[in-house]
Amino acid sequence: MSEERLYLYPLWLRIWHWINALMFLVLIATGLSLQYAGPESTFIRFDYAVQYHNIAGIILTISFVFFVLANRFTSNRKFYRIKYKGFVKRLMKQFRYYIYGVFIHEPKPYPVSEKRKFNPLQKLSYVMVMYLMMPVIIITGFGLLFPETNIENVFGVAGIYLTDLLHIVTGFVLSVFMIVHIYFCTFGKTVGSEFKSMFTGWH
Ligand code: HEM
Repeated sequence: MSEERLYLYPLWLRIWHWINALMFLVLIATGLSLQYAGPESTFIRFDYAVQYHNIAGIILTISFVFFVLANRFTSNRKFYRIKYKGFVKRLMKQFRYYIYGVFIHEPKPYPVSEKRKFNPLQKLSYVMVMYLMMPVIIITGFGLLFPETNIENVFGVAGIYLTDLLHIVTGFVLSVFMIVHIYFCTFGKTVGSEFKSMFTGWH
């Protein structure tokens, strides 16, 4: 079954994915530069970093809205639906495979098929990233772009400070996700085969 050639990544998804990945790289580079900028030392010139960060954030937002709509109205949505019954057990089985089974060449517990593009861990992480963390980073990003929209005072703390904190923490978690995501994408048939799939559409 897993040897079949499957068309899993339609063109709209590939275009969204690579725009999203590219914007992420720009946002991480400029975001880090802004975060650690000192009076003399900046990785990217401060005004450029602000400008590129804002532009990349807006492109990311547009592509995110596109993803949500396309994922809602195409058959790709079925891969994001979590069946709660027995989900934790399936997660554990996949986790065990990643920390043990894969190293002794056990067969994959949830091989890719036409009905199952993601294993349980992939499904959970993609749902959390796309439907929880992306909205948080986008909304807090706009909160920082338009400071007047923030609540002035939350129990004695400036609202904008909390928005900033949430933005930075979510950005950090998403950056870690991206590194882990890329690492797990090397677990395909060959190290590069999953990356190739995201360009050709074929698994
Ligand atoms: C340079 C950075 C990145 C690379 C090289 C990369 C690579 C890949 C590859 C090879 C796949 C196909 C394998 C699979 O389905 O797991 C994939 C899928 C996916 N990636 Fe990435 N990725 C990157 C960044 C990101 C970022 C930043 C996000 C989200 C914030 C993301 C979200 C996703 C999602 C949701 C899928 C599944 C899409 C679907 O089939 O419905 N990726 N990625």
